[in-house]
Amino acid sequence: MSKADDHIVILTGAGISAESGLGTFRDVGGLWSRYDWRDLATPEGFARDPGFVLAFYNWRRERVRAARPNPAHEALARLQRHWPGRVTLITQNVDDLHEQAGSEDVIHMHGNHLGALCAACGHRWPAPEAMAAADPCPACARPATRPDVVWFGETPCHMDRIGAALATARLFVSIGTSGTVCPAAGFAALARKSGARTLELNLGRSENTDHFDEARHGPATDLVPAWVTALLG
Ligand code: OAD
Repeated sequence: MSKADDHIVILTGAGISAESGLGTFRDVGGLWSRYDWRDLATPEGFARDPGFVLAFYNWRRERVRAARPNPAHEALARLQRHWPGRVTLITQNVDDLHEQAGSEDVIHMHGNHLGALCAACGHRWPAPEAMAAADPCPACARPATRPDVVWFGETPCHMDRIGAALATARLFVSIGTSGTVCPAAGFAALARKSGARTLELNLGRSENTDHFDEARHGPATDLVPAWVTALLG
């Protein structure tokens, strides 16, 4: 088997963007230790108080717009450019730092902060600077504008494509994710079952470190460029 036949599947989480200044969810001081996810990341929370939810995402979108990719995002873009085989990049992140670093065809399984979605008709359009509860949908005019992100209880995007990629992976690499949110938390086990070697690159042990053949612990900006350099030789 040559390198050209090798399919690498990479899953990233909030930890890869932490050193770009975007907070994670479950670390000490993380978003879900300061806010209740039931209020901010569920359709029910949005129905209860759309103004509060939109204000939170307006704040996060502003932070995403100001953030720049770090050496870990850049290393993955370099891998995609130079690896002779296939590289599938799946992210749980709703920022665009992989794209800013030059990655292409990034699978955003939890949606994207820079998109708007009509909760009434499903129309999608680029997010304005700020969203308000009274904003009409450009397609159906109903005031149901929400961020185009996946909330708890909703189905993640592109699951068919992800399933197909995991089935043919030779190497599965998880970067900067706590391994607590399904279905992403199950990807390592699925890839392993299909015969892939599994590698975790994370600040510390994740919830599912045991599903990996190898785990390296440290900051993504150290681990990821070193791993990519070694792989590309
Ligand atoms: P978490 O906040 O749950 O986990 C982030 C992981 O990154 C932790 O294991 C940290 O140890 C690690 N980490 C932190 N800083 C790092 C660094 N500099 N280098 C490497 N690793 C670092 O974030 P996710 O696993 O991405 O979903 O969270 C999964 C989902 O839960 C999110 O997509 C979001 C959230 O609720 C929805 O909103 C649907």
